[in-house]
Amino acid sequence: MAAGSNEVKHTVVLTAAYPPVAREILAGQFDVIEHPTEPLRSEDDLILIFSEADAAITLLSDPLTRRVLSSNPNLRIVANYAVGYNNVDVEAARELGITITHTPGVLTEATAELTMALILAVTRRLVEGDREVREGGICIWEPLHLLGASLQGKRLGIVGTGRIGTAVAARARVFGMEVGGVRRGEALAPLLAVSDIVSIHVPLNRETHHLIDAAALGKMKKGSFLINTARGAIVDESALCDALERGHLAGAALDVYEFEPAVSARLRALPNTVLAPHIGSATFETRSAMARIAATDVLRFLNGQMPLHPVR
Ligand code: DGY
Repeated sequence: MAAGSNEVKHTVVLTAAYPPVAREILAGQFDVIEHPTEPLRSEDDLILIFSEADAAITLLSDPLTRRVLSSNPNLRIVANYAVGYNNVDVEAARELGITITHTPGVLTEATAELTMALILAVTRRLVEGDREVREGGICIWEPLHLLGASLQGKRLGIVGTGRIGTAVAARARVFGMEVGGVRRGEALAPLLAVSDIVSIHVPLNRETHHLIDAAALGKMKKGSFLINTARGAIVDESALCDALERGHLAGAALDVYEFEPAVSARLRALPNTVLAPHIGSATFETRSAMARIAATDVLRFLNGQMPLHPVR
């Protein structure tokens, strides 16, 4: 909090370069300190940059642990620039009286679109084909060349039929797929056993950590595909590599990784994986909408109003 001539101005710390709308919303009323984007900040880095903050907008890779949250008693609100908030110790925040917000709703369509892109890319071997054309400088048409799997008539199993899962289901039906799904608390095994493609859309928490482990992968149909645009640690990545290497799964398309930002050498070496760099929400429209939501909630809170997207 900085003391001005007549009034005290709050300081809002941005832990990355967010779309400009965030600064535009906040800069008129507050001191805004923008830090350069870092793919992975340590707790100590965050403690340092939070030392001046009354409020902060944070990345999903920022570890908002109890130690970080308790490092500055002036910190009152953190707007996490993501729908997921597995990087936040929500219990500690509650105990410390720090409000946490997130950005639900506005990334549903973008994430569902990327999920379809990954499904199509892995089933139609698009990345393999792209590599072949680029590296070989040649376009081959042969009756048995780069054959993939059709979506028409196949079964898609949605793990987590919330906002994003439901949006994926609607798109998949347009491609002629039969869609099944499970929500929290429902048995997963029957869905895994009949699905040609399994797509994950649950949040990461204690219950869902390694939900897709060796046993679950073993229950998936031989020759099926796994898609993950949710959080990496929902899948046991080493068990997934085993299943892909053995040929039990035909392929996997991932936007998220268990040890992000690291991506395992085994996954990278497999020809039947499509590996995206966590871009589920990465459209101009969505990232700006997320910035608007996060900044507006900070603005409201610092002006004594309820934020519209608190984490409950
Ligand atoms: C989220 O908001 O949780 C997404 O993973 C961001 O792309």
